[in-house]
Amino acid sequence: MNTADNVVEMRSISKGFNGVSVLKDVSFDVRHGEVHALAGGNGAGKSTLMKILQGVYQTDAGEILIGGKPASINSIQDAKAAGIGMVFQEFSLVPSLTVAQNIFLAAEPLGPGGLIDDRTAVKRAKEVFAEMEVDVDARAEVSRLGTAYWQLTEIAKALAQDATVLIMDEPTASLARHESEALFELIDRLKQRGISIIYISHRMDEVYRLADRITILRDGRHLLTEPLTDVTPEQIVEGIVGKKIEGQLSYRARQVAQDAAPLLEVRGLNAGHRVRDVSFALRPGEILGLAGLMGSGRTELARALFGIDKVDSGEVLLRGKKVNLATPQQAINAGVALIPEDRRDQGLVLEHSVQDNLLLPLLGQIQRGPLLDGTKGKELSSSLIKRFAVKVAHPHRPVRLLSGGNQQKVVIAKWLGTDPDILILDEPTAGVDIGTKSEILDMIRELANAGKAVIVISSEYPELLAVSDRVLVLKDGSIIRDIPRSEIADEEYLQLAVQGV
Ligand SMILES: Nc1ncnc2c1ncn2[C@@H]1O[C@H](COP(=O)(O)OP(=O)(O)OP(=O)(O)O)[C@@H](O)[C@H]1O
Ligand SMILES: [Mg+2]
Repeated sequence: MNTADNVVEMRSISKGFNGVSVLKDVSFDVRHGEVHALAGGNGAGKSTLMKILQGVYQTDAGEILIGGKPASINSIQDAKAAGIGMVFQEFSLVPSLTVAQNIFLAAEPLGPGGLIDDRTAVKRAKEVFAEMEVDVDARAEVSRLGTAYWQLTEIAKALAQDATVLIMDEPTASLARHESEALFELIDRLKQRGISIIYISHRMDEVYRLADRITILRDGRHLLTEPLTDVTPEQIVEGIVGKKIEGQLSYRARQVAQDAAPLLEVRGLNAGHRVRDVSFALRPGEILGLAGLMGSGRTELARALFGIDKVDSGEVLLRGKKVNLATPQQAINAGVALIPEDRRDQGLVLEHSVQDNLLLPLLGQIQRGPLLDGTKGKELSSSLIKRFAVKVAHPHRPVRLLSGGNQQKVVIAKWLGTDPDILILDEPTAGVDIGTKSEILDMIRELANAGKAVIVISSEYPELLAVSDRVLVLKDGSIIRDIPRSEIADEEYLQLAVQGV
């Protein structure tokens, strides 16, 4: 192949941190105007490889070619100059500035002549958005906009800096369904304009929707690079996980005793604007799915039940007894656990070790008088690490150093370890790899089989349908449908129900 077709070529890249090797002899190339999916299990090295291309990390060995010529990328500036743009997962915008200011004024080297005035910035921002064919108010202050607009601003910023390659690391993780679809359409248009996109995702449907080729990394090594037309989804899953997994997202009918007394009863619950007159009952052993669009009140309902948001009126009963869940501590004491949606913010102490994070909610179990039982603590944490396949060199390493998906796993493992009566999971598999997804669904089923009650919020319909016994559909804060799983024929049925059709 003619290497000049490659806008980016990374050859035999190796990288380690403190003697631990993370990337081993990885080669990766991107062609002009292609979408190249970068896949692999949590901790496989995807983000690290991209941080090298972006100039955040330097390689230990190997070389990078841009447009066929060797390039030395030693800083983010170097990467930008080489046309590499990044759409950060943790956005790099200044919230108090406007969209236009973020795109132009906040651009780093504000050398002489580099400054432009506000009016010009707005005008140029409008031009970029017009080229992208998206509608964003260039004068709006970024802090007032939703995630999807932050992302569009990031993309506009990269394009304004003449990026020819855009790196997107799990860009749909915080987007609603229709927003994701808008992003996919934008990616199609960018591609037509000759922009190349490196697309990291754990979602197979996205990879097939968008990508021309796929590269799979496994444990820091290059496993394969193929056109999507030449690999089956099964081969990809097997490549990522390292073994065959069958029927990972298939529904298994479960028996829930309909005559059992409810474990949880919610009556006429009102909380803020997004939870309106919500009533439902949950039986022991039951897995209840919550479906709805972004803003339908799913997360807010979970937060109200866990004592984070104030309840305005209505009652919550646990095992038939009225309870007051005004704070998370009261909820935990009553046997309710919530695995929140924005886990990295709410669920972890990043500077603390993996073991300490895992044991935080379990301190009661390992306390011996005034002391902690070190051996038991170690046993408990290592069994959780093993069960969830958390990729960490040592349980005492800070959580901050784990890959994104492995941090997610730690939060989930931590709360499942508390053995709650009622477990609420908000987007439990976001960011986790395909192998761990099915493990998490299995754990949810196991908990329910042990007589607990589970509420699952998920925007991924295949997952929601695989695990739920019943689905409540929310719209504008109210329950509009209550459907037994057996009556839901397929994803499309659920989709229509969610849209209120
Ligand atoms: N700064 C660092 N110091 C030490 N180890 C690191 C550092 N950054 C990454 N690692 C380790 O490198 C490995 C690869 O991490 P990376 O973030 O590249 O994985 P990933 O493929 O992006 O995974 P995910 O799907 O979970 O996002 C992990 O084991 C991680 O703990
Ligand atoms: Mg990553």
